[in-house]
Amino acid sequence: MTSTKNPPHHVGVIGGDGIGPEVTAQALRVLEAAGLQMELTHYDLGAARFLRDGTVLPDETMAEWRGLDALLLGAVGDPAPGQAAPAGLVERGILLRMRFELDMYVNYRPFRLPPTVNFEVIRENTEGTYAGEGGFLRKNTPNEIATQGSVNTRHGVERCIRYSFEQAANSERHHLTLVHKKNVLTFAGDLWQRAFDEVAVEYPQVETAYQHVDAACIHFVERPEIYDVVVTDNLFGDILTDLAGAVAGGVAYAASANLNPDRTGPSMFEPVHGTAPDIAGKNIANPIAAVISAGLMAGFLGETEVAEAIEIATADPRRYVGSTSEIGDALVAAVTR
Ligand code: IPM
Ligand code: MN
Repeated sequence: MTSTKNPPHHVGVIGGDGIGPEVTAQALRVLEAAGLQMELTHYDLGAARFLRDGTVLPDETMAEWRGLDALLLGAVGDPAPGQAAPAGLVERGILLRMRFELDMYVNYRPFRLPPTVNFEVIRENTEGTYAGEGGFLRKNTPNEIATQGSVNTRHGVERCIRYSFEQAANSERHHLTLVHKKNVLTFAGDLWQRAFDEVAVEYPQVETAYQHVDAACIHFVERPEIYDVVVTDNLFGDILTDLAGAVAGGVAYAASANLNPDRTGPSMFEPVHGTAPDIAGKNIANPIAAVISAGLMAGFLGETEVAEAIEIATADPRRYVGSTSEIGDALVAAVTR
């Protein structure tokens, strides 16, 4: 149990839509049971809120978040697909805005399913095709043009790569794989590879590899045991981490940490899965990914004992079956000492 001597961490909670609030509630129970001292502020945001009063994310809320220690998020997105929220509006307006404006430049996603899967993907989280560069020309004419650029700054790429080398240097296997598509994306891929090679010189103890993203898709499925730390860009990382989730037992187990490693603002912790509106409100969603994400939050806040208790309890997520609250009960029991 963590000491009561630590001051409470000020955590902003966005349950969001669909199963988001249910899984987040279990994550908070587990954190409390493990002894984390928290002061919570709940934010009613997401598609349901947007549909109710048109609010996506007020500037004042964003300003308030800058003063928090961390953010815990369930999932945001249309609670009933086909309703009035325009596609992707709250995902971009809340999730991506938060990642960009709070400079959460590392999206850290661990995948563990003993005995074969034990690796982590570090996804660049502020640039690439997600940056929103591009636009339409001659929209709604037969000659319409849409472009969507990929933004890769040396600064943005290098800091993400540097974080990945640190991570690999501290891992058991000291191995780091760069995934890109440099045979075709010759500008972005070249910048990534050069930044990678230059930082590698500072980490002689880390063994490195490069894979094209299409080949990596095969190896993720057929030989997941070859990976230790993987670093890649925003879009490749988005796709590869869904694949990795499937390989590691299902996306219900996939956790993530949107980190601002420089700590110029809070970091945000969320399951990789979405709002799953088809099973929302039925107490059947598996809360494990939210709980693992909460454990990552505790670790990032320096609460090593809480983080370790959750990591040990969730080491094999297949152990937990049952309803949302039953799995929550079992995890609460597992971390209570
Ligand atoms: C993720 C999600 C988001 C992304 C969506 C909801 C915008 O798929 O966190 O992986 O594409 O980053
Ligand atoms: Mn995704």
